[in-house]
Amino acid sequence: MKIKLAICPVAVLVAVAATWPAAYAQDSSAVRGMAATCANCHGTDGRSVGTVAGLAGVDKTYLAQQMKDFKTGKRPGTIMHQLAKGYTDEQIEQMAAYFAAQKK
Ligand code: HEC
Repeated sequence: MKIKLAICPVAVLVAVAATWPAAYAQDSSAVRGMAATCANCHGTDGRSVGTVAGLAGVDKTYLAQQMKDFKTGKRPGTIMHQLAKGYTDEQIEQMAAYFAAQKK
C-alpha cells in the first residue's frame, strides 16, 4: 500500500507529460478535419472565392453565434441550418476559433 501511494503521483505525471502533446495534436487535426468540410462552399481555410461568405479572419464570437443561430433556427438558411445541427456547441467554438485565426 505504501509503495503504491509513493509511485502513483509520479506515474500520473509521466503519463500526462507523455500523452499531452499527442492529445493536443490529435485535437487540432480533428478541428482541421471539421473545418475542411466547410471548404467546398466557404473556400480553403474559409477564404471564399465564390459568392458564399468567407470565414477566414472573421470574429470568432460572430462565427460561433451564427452557427448556433443556424442550429437553433433563430437564423434561417438554405443549407447552414441543416449543417449546423451536426455539431456540438464545443465543436462550433473550435471551428470558429480555427477560422478566426486564418488569414483573410
Ligand atoms: C453546401 C455549402 C456549404 C457548406 C458545406 C458550408 N456552408 Fe456555411 N454557408 C453556406 C451558405 C449558402 C451560407 C448562407 C446562409 C445559408 O443560405 O444557409 C452560409 C453561411 C455561413 C455562415 C454565416 C456567414 C456570415 O457572414 O453571416 C457561417 C458562420 C458558416 N456558413 C459557417 C460554416 C461552417 C463552419 C461550415 C463547416 C462546418 C460551413 N459553413 C459549411 C454554405 C455552406
